[in-house]
Amino acid sequence: MAQGVPAEGTRHGESIEPVLVVIPTYNERDNLPDILRRLHEANPAVHALVVDDGSPDGTGVLADDLAAADERVHVMHRSEKAGLGAAYVAGFRWGLARDYATLVEMDADGSHAPEDLPRILDALGDADLVLGSRYVPGGSVVNWPLRRQILSRGANLYSRIALGARINDITAGYRAYRRQVLEKLALDEIASRGYCFQIDLAWRTVCEGFTVVEVPITFTEREIGESKMSGSIVREAMVRVGIWGLRHRLDQLRSIFTRKS
Ligand code: GDD
Ligand code: MN
Repeated sequence: MAQGVPAEGTRHGESIEPVLVVIPTYNERDNLPDILRRLHEANPAVHALVVDDGSPDGTGVLADDLAAADERVHVMHRSEKAGLGAAYVAGFRWGLARDYATLVEMDADGSHAPEDLPRILDALGDADLVLGSRYVPGGSVVNWPLRRQILSRGANLYSRIALGARINDITAGYRAYRRQVLEKLALDEIASRGYCFQIDLAWRTVCEGFTVVEVPITFTEREIGESKMSGSIVREAMVRVGIWGLRHRLDQLRSIFTRKS
């Protein structure tokens, strides 16, 4: 499932530690303590950065309390809900400004089991980006309504047709990046606000020639709180992925016609 050839930026053999797990939150007060406890039980050495968009339910205040009690926990407060993608970009910048060698994305609602992280980090030994994938053998989704299953499968199929990337779960939200990938990707240019951010970054990573590996995970739908998925998030993804796809196909055509015989 590896894709691409190791790029010049590839850092195989370099340490993947220290690790920062970026956890975006919007109204996750009832999920946050549990996810941090599980994260550190399964991965004592990692640090966590909670990126809270001014949650009205007080998630940010709770995160501050948890951070005061544990030096491995950090908190970034942002003033308003600006989307998952924007929260991750801010979190990555924070991590890149420090000495973290690996930056991980993880949801706060328990859908991404922290107990799977050691396996994801292991796979990073041979890759630049590891995706926790629902759609490779051994991967699965638990408790998603049919509507969400269709949306997720549809998003992957649409992305595959538009971009031609050989990734089975390009919208995956549980992933680990080597810092060199994020340094190379010019985070300033990332305009994706919602969940198409995931497709955006995976696609840019592939285009830069980095190695992407998928490891199977079980994604379990949250039991507490609500998904922030919305119609505008879906529309943003459809438009942006369509544009990236068109641009990519035009580039391919251009290279055919300008190729010297
Ligand atoms: N700071 C911040 N700002 N956090 C946010 C925002 C936002 O605008 N929107 C969502 N989050 C946080 C949530 O609080 C949660 O911790 C995490 O991002 C995921 O949000 P959910 O709303 O629970 O996502 P989902 O379960 O519908 O979707 C998941 O699966 C998708 C793939 O099908 C996520 O992992 C997506 O990233 C993924 O693309
Ligand atoms: Mn969720």
